[in-house]
Amino acid sequence: MGKREEWGSRAGFLLAAIGSAVGLGNIWRFPYVAYENGGGAFLIPYFFALLTAGIPILILEFGVGHKFKGSAPLSFRRISRNAEWLGWWQVFISFIIMMYYVVIIAWSANYIWFSVGLKWGKDTNAFLFSEYLHISKGVWNFGGIQWPIFFTLLGVWAVIFFILFRGVKAGIEKASKFLMPLLAVIMILFTIRGVTLPGAVKGLNVLLTPDFSKIFDANTWVAAYGQIFYSLSVAFAIMITYSSYLPEKAEINNSAFITGFANSGFEFLAALGVFGVIGFMSQSTGIPIDKVAGQGVGLAFVVFPQIINQLPAMNSLIGVLFFTALFIAGLTSAISILEVVIAAIMDKFMLSRKQAVIYSSLVGFLGSVIYTSGGGLYYLDIVDHFINAFGIVLSGITEVILLGWFFNLTTIREHNNLLSDYRIGSWWEIMIRFVTPIILGIMTVINFYNEFTKLFGGGDYPLNSLIVFGWGVALAAITFAVIVKTIPGYQKEGI
Ligand code: ALA
Repeated sequence: MGKREEWGSRAGFLLAAIGSAVGLGNIWRFPYVAYENGGGAFLIPYFFALLTAGIPILILEFGVGHKFKGSAPLSFRRISRNAEWLGWWQVFISFIIMMYYVVIIAWSANYIWFSVGLKWGKDTNAFLFSEYLHISKGVWNFGGIQWPIFFTLLGVWAVIFFILFRGVKAGIEKASKFLMPLLAVIMILFTIRGVTLPGAVKGLNVLLTPDFSKIFDANTWVAAYGQIFYSLSVAFAIMITYSSYLPEKAEINNSAFITGFANSGFEFLAALGVFGVIGFMSQSTGIPIDKVAGQGVGLAFVVFPQIINQLPAMNSLIGVLFFTALFIAGLTSAISILEVVIAAIMDKFMLSRKQAVIYSSLVGFLGSVIYTSGGGLYYLDIVDHFINAFGIVLSGITEVILLGWFFNLTTIREHNNLLSDYRIGSWWEIMIRFVTPIILGIMTVINFYNEFTKLFGGGDYPLNSLIVFGWGVALAAITFAVIVKTIPGYQKEGI
């Protein structure tokens, strides 16, 4: 094993971290979540979650990665042998997310092409579900592989493979330095177009008008914390891995703030653009905004194409811009998610980067093929819901409790403060030890309560499918983690 790879510059690290944070979650998830949970009023729990959990955990993960210089399992193992499994848990959660995440990137790539000449036709709903996805009749109906999606997926994996094969500096850093500024330019162009369309103000008003009654609804807070975790890539093992590639002398605290605020900036930009466009649609068709706005797949791949059809000019161009933004944002996040797996197996099994990239890409690719089937969208929907609520959030709470209560947190604070532009005070420890665990604890109780009182999907999915693809997958992540922990490794470490 040679020396651990390193970023070439601070800017390179920051762009890679921001690239990881800014992803599908920013462009299609945030606008809808904000709108659903009180519009302007959502910003209160959102900022509360950002400042009490998002940025404090980012500071923690950057500190842990830098101090212990390892992938998540190795860093946790260096803290305590008994904590290694937590790292693997996050690695498996990330790997599971990776497998469907790449499929959405593949759809985005196809939709860039469909934008040219508006190939989706007039009925964008029928196009997506019948012509493109060939969605099957139900979750237990596999429906066969959709070959156009399969081959695009293969292409996406090839790009990810190529970037990661080249390593941290020549691969991830170089790609981020090129892709992130490009993404920013595209998003700005898209947003300018969005907010200057006729009727845009109507959409912006709906997004930004606060509905304060929502603040007293616990589910709004659950949504805010969920959004922050997903969007900032915390509890994904990503930020620990990325900061383990920082050189000895590296700024930490400020980098966490920059990453957090840059991510939110992208999120707001996307929300303004998306709601401007939705306002336009509502005005030109007379359909109320709440009927226009949809979540995730619906918003990006049905509503947007519909709106693009109606634009007064430059329809194809706006389509290309939007789906390219989705593609780039997704790609830079996917790279970071797979790097988590690569770093973890390189450390534990003493593999070369080449070996680790080949094994993880191969397994990842095979796993993602299921989502190219006619039933793919159902599996994606269920896995995404369960792995977030009972993977990310649960492993996040475990992380703050373990590090906050069974480890001397002050050593990380001191480590960070010695290196950083400015010092963080004891407020940070209060956040990690008390505020975050309490709120995440309440959130977990609410998540379990919601799950057991109403079936996810509102009856669209039979219980046995939720048990297999939902609970089963979430449970598999933690089970694999415990198993892998028991396999001997880290021989040269002697720990
Ligand atoms: N942070 C990434 C996103 O927002 C995973 O999509």
